[in-house]
Amino acid sequence: MIPYGKHHIDEDDIAAVVDILRSGLLTQGPAVESFERAVAEYVGAKHAVAVSSGTAALHLAALAAGVGPGTTLITTPITFVASANAGLYAGGKVAFADIDPDTINMSPAALAETLAANPDTKAIVPVHFAGLPCDMPAIKSLADKAGAAVIEDGAHALGASYPDGQRVGCCAHSLMTIFSFHPVKAIAAGEGGMITTNDDAVYRRLLRLRSHGINKLDDPFVLEDQAYTEGVQNPWYYEMQELGFHYRITDIQCALANSQLRKLESFLERRRVIVKRYDAELAGVRNLSPAQHSGRERSGHHLYVVRIDFDSAGISRPKLMTALRERGVGNQVHYIPVPMQPLYRAQGSEIALYPNARSYYEQALSIPLYYDLSDSDQAHVIEVFKELLG
Ligand SMILES: Cc1ncc(COP(=O)(O)O)c(C=O)c1O
Repeated sequence: MIPYGKHHIDEDDIAAVVDILRSGLLTQGPAVESFERAVAEYVGAKHAVAVSSGTAALHLAALAAGVGPGTTLITTPITFVASANAGLYAGGKVAFADIDPDTINMSPAALAETLAANPDTKAIVPVHFAGLPCDMPAIKSLADKAGAAVIEDGAHALGASYPDGQRVGCCAHSLMTIFSFHPVKAIAAGEGGMITTNDDAVYRRLLRLRSHGINKLDDPFVLEDQAYTEGVQNPWYYEMQELGFHYRITDIQCALANSQLRKLESFLERRRVIVKRYDAELAGVRNLSPAQHSGRERSGHHLYVVRIDFDSAGISRPKLMTALRERGVGNQVHYIPVPMQPLYRAQGSEIALYPNARSYYEQALSIPLYYDLSDSDQAHVIEVFKELLG
């Protein structure tokens, strides 16, 4: 079976992890900080905070943006549930802004409507879907007017860039950006996430929240009589001033991620080549077209998503998915719109309010795209589509 996505591990990655295992430090050692510095430098942000997953990154970012009871977090219906769940974890409500059918990203016009209906919005979470950057200047200007923070969900978009050439993660249009290093993403840490920001206070808060809410760096202590003896800080003393979490990542994971990051440019280049070939060779397949139309030259190409007009093709999606799998071609649907999930329906969300998300969902299919996809395997995928759709 050719999967729809897969990580690539080479001998350098294995050696990097083995080195850490021999180093005596499995967690909270130098690999975490060096990975943070490497990502911050790569994307062009002042700070980076590595955490245990992209989901943990979203949770902490929502808290740092001020989401809590009586406030709202707005995201897109077409994303993994984690982008929305961050608002619920933080104790807030979640609202959705429909997608733009050309990019499958949050539509600024729809965001304006959702903001008007939710004046208590504290955070907006646009998702760079499949790696294609959102219209950030438009989203940022709406957020500024509403007094809301922007948290970019860049889980698909490490290595992608905006039209001005800056990389996703630089936070030129947001307070924070999050990334995921789950194996199917641009680089793998096993599990892992990162938050980048240019804001010093947010950075400090994220460091605390990542580790139980315990004071970090030179944060001032509340209980000075406990913290100091004759003006000198007590060597054992630590202070927890708010409730945080254990969302730390290990050195083992960061050693792997550091080694993977060094290969990111070649990963991206191979993905671009595969995408170009699909674009060219699937162009003649009836009732099928790439889901995203504009801005793809700057995408991180996490997924290759096609839209298929199943009615005109005379085959249902389940039948096509099964036929593809029978011929060794893995495929998946990204994503079931979050407002359709029972938990969000129970909270009053209705897919009918997001017609672009609904019609995209009815037609979407992700097909194999990853660094190690060979030319001959890609040729097989293309042949199978031609056979099944004509
Ligand atoms: C858009 C998006 N955001 C967030 C996440 C969560 O990342 P993680 O799996 O590292 O928790 C994912 C994971 O698939 C995702 O696709």
